[in-house]
Amino acid sequence: MTDGGIQLIDRTAAAARLPEFERLLQLALTAQGRARAPYSRFKVGAAVLAGSGAAYPGCNVESASYGATICAERSAVAGAVAAGETSIRACVVVTSTAEPSSPCGICRQLLREFGTELLVFAASSLGDAVYVAQLGALLPLSFGPDNLEAAGGDQ
Ligand code: THU
Repeated sequence: MTDGGIQLIDRTAAAARLPEFERLLQLALTAQGRARAPYSRFKVGAAVLAGSGAAYPGCNVESASYGATICAERSAVAGAVAAGETSIRACVVVTSTAEPSSPCGICRQLLREFGTELLVFAASSLGDAVYVAQLGALLPLSFGPDNLEAAGGDQ
């Protein structure tokens, strides 16, 4: 199925699309098991593939002050950047929903920082289904670093 640049595939096809997919998925599944989600009980794991070829895991960490919660995808991005990475090529997110859950709007916006061609894979810990899309398809007409550059910084 293809819909506006978003495809529903399986894990084998995902690995054909990105050779590092399986490595990212395993990291994300391990991180999902470590998620701190005592309030929602919705554990999310993620892994990002950096430009260097290294992969970084993330999980959601919830707070009793709910708004302080960080999502799995943003926690993976923060880990990569803290390790010295300056580019991110792909993100895998995994949830325990039969239909994979794709990144929330805030996470899409942070991933946008690393380009509209970044590949996003949404997988399920319960089955083989995977959604894949470029970030640009998940966030059309997005606001990004180039918009700030276009303004020239003199406003
Ligand atoms: N969550 C993520 O980790 N990533 C997303 O893209 C969507 C939501 C987390 C945040 C919260 O801990 C729980 O899932 C329920 O919203």
